[in-house]
Amino acid sequence: MIGIFDSGLGGVTILKELIKILPRENYLYYADSLHSPYGDKTKEELEEYTSNIVEYLINKNCKIIIIACNTASLVCKEYLRKKYKIPIIATEPAYKMIYDHNRDSKTLIIATQGTVNSQNFQELVKKYDNKKTEICACSGLADLIEEQDSKKIVEYLKEKLTKYKDIESVVLGCTHYPLIKEEIKEVLGNVKFYDGGMGVSKQAKEILKKKNKLEENTGKITFVDSSQSEKKENLFFKLVNYSKI
Ligand code: DGL
Repeated sequence: MIGIFDSGLGGVTILKELIKILPRENYLYYADSLHSPYGDKTKEELEEYTSNIVEYLINKNCKIIIIACNTASLVCKEYLRKKYKIPIIATEPAYKMIYDHNRDSKTLIIATQGTVNSQNFQELVKKYDNKKTEICACSGLADLIEEQDSKKIVEYLKEKLTKYKDIESVVLGCTHYPLIKEEIKEVLGNVKFYDGGMGVSKQAKEILKKKNKLEENTGKITFVDSSQSEKKENLFFKLVNYSKI
């Protein structure tokens, strides 16, 4: 089984990419809604929450863990990899894709405050700087996305993003944000989006292949939420487009 976690439901944007290339694996998805949003938490808090999740997933016999949360990845990946032997795949804002494929484009990176403040993020931006990049931390946006109120989301985005002019590329640096591409387009126009979902999924497949751990199972998806919210569970399965049998 593949273990995957996020502060909430944003990780579905990675899970969906995983399913495309590994449809017969079984998945255990952990949403830490009890402690969300992660974007406003300290490093110490995130280390504690994510350690508990990793231990839970190990105890459930997961063979690999995907951190489907940019904030947790950038803040804790080194800490978790040092602490646990299990392979841990971490997502990050797909800024390298701009450097590789669209270096000339005027770019906006949106992410949580925790991601933007992290050292890993600062290093990433410095390494692939195209000199045409703006960064905007969107505190509270992940929560609004989980509320699923499109009107409120557009209002929030208008207030935050209207000042950015002529943006051509948007790096979705939080796993929740691929869920609101339409709302972002309403504010910024017809921009091109970049996110880490497919890259992370390919990495996971590669590692499983190397370790000879790819499996042909039933493609079962199990959902666990730390706040035990039935509403979250229903929304999760709706977003993944998967019906529980
Ligand atoms: N989905 C998360 C990320 O990719 C975090 C959202 C939050 O809990 O603040 O950063």
